[in-house]
Amino acid sequence: MSATVEETIQYASQESPDSPRRTVRVGICGLGTVGSGTVNVMSRNAAEITARCGRPVEIVQVGARRDNPACDTSQMQVSREIFDVATNPEVDILVELIGGTTVARELILTAIENGKHIVTANKALIAEHGNELFEAAASKGVTIAYEGAVAGGIPIIKSLREGLVGNRIQWLAGIINGTGNYILTEMREKGRTFEEALAQAQALGYAEADPTFDVEGIDAAHKLVIMASLAFRMPLAFDKVYTEGISGISIEDIRYADELGYRIKHLGIARGTEQGVELRVHPTLIPQRRLIASVNGVMNAVMVSGDAVGPTLYYGAGAGAEATASAVIADIVDVARTLEATPDQRVPLAGVAAGGQGQNCVLPMDEVVTSYYLRISAHDKPGVMSQVAKICSDQGISIEALIQHEPAEGEALVPVVILTSRAKEARLREAVSQIEALDTVEGEVVRIRVEPLG
Ligand code: HSE
Repeated sequence: MSATVEETIQYASQESPDSPRRTVRVGICGLGTVGSGTVNVMSRNAAEITARCGRPVEIVQVGARRDNPACDTSQMQVSREIFDVATNPEVDILVELIGGTTVARELILTAIENGKHIVTANKALIAEHGNELFEAAASKGVTIAYEGAVAGGIPIIKSLREGLVGNRIQWLAGIINGTGNYILTEMREKGRTFEEALAQAQALGYAEADPTFDVEGIDAAHKLVIMASLAFRMPLAFDKVYTEGISGISIEDIRYADELGYRIKHLGIARGTEQGVELRVHPTLIPQRRLIASVNGVMNAVMVSGDAVGPTLYYGAGAGAEATASAVIADIVDVARTLEATPDQRVPLAGVAAGGQGQNCVLPMDEVVTSYYLRISAHDKPGVMSQVAKICSDQGISIEALIQHEPAEGEALVPVVILTSRAKEARLREAVSQIEALDTVEGEVVRIRVEPLG
């Protein structure tokens, strides 16, 4: 007969501190949105967590420059000096929630040096310094868990590292920045311009005063590279991700995409090919019939396709105090369950056993093959279409669909919208530069990649 929650708690707390099932002692650094959410959820769900873990898990210390009225730390030791947590012999697991890549890196290295396991939700830190941190952790026999770093509450790290481990991953594609998704959704549903939707996102607290990380795809690139490293057994290669933002997307393009049966989403995409792994973040036309096309507002979703399982979809809140706390606590419980295990008994840090990691083989963007949406501003004169068709055909690109409406009253220019066949990026770029050089074409050609996701 299984024990009740109360019996489990009583049993675990009666053990001596040296017993293998003693209380696991957690130190949290950073009491911002995610830190306070973690304190609150751990306190509210303590019995549930203990029952699942088979032992109590207690926050024994918080390191934070100031208190946060959103959570109660009156029963915890609070230090204004976060490095106290990294050196405290009473702490088993240091939870890094301060963000940034400088102090956070030093904090984690100090904690590792002091034999602590690490839980972090810091995507920039893992993406940019993960290789170094994993090596440091492996040499000390401790672990680093980072579920909260990607897509908030969605357990995508665990899915890639454990749930899908029997597959060869073919590709993954995700809406992994809630702010960008909110902006694109507002533009499509309310007809707002990019600037209006961004201002709205800032007013609601989704976007920072400087929105560069979110709208230019850097935040998504951090998350993509972490997922790709697990999916394709390769070292983290943040500097090799191709990144394009959404600030150039117009309502006009969203409307044409609709007319063609597509939605425009800002995707992080990683795909395994014979020549290397594609790593790219950019606005993308995706078929409206895909479930992921209906992921709107600030929500996140990731599709992962494996050779055995086929395409799978993971959906949920990509940010927020308690959603991210959910991921952070899952990591704390994972570490707590295996606190006394030897490193080879734990799930490996980067998802592969020692010696199992492959090379860092990112495919150069010129070699990437996709279809394209092109919008050309052309003069309403005979012969333009045949010139464009010839340029495409000379580059081995065929035209799969075309929209040309009558020019608006008094307008000399007419938008010509084309969906191309799949072509190498370098060939497409050459075709576009020849089209832009035509006398009959004005300005730059708008180009957005198309992915079937099936
Ligand atoms: N700024 C991120 C987003 C949330 O908008 O998705 C944290 O990763």
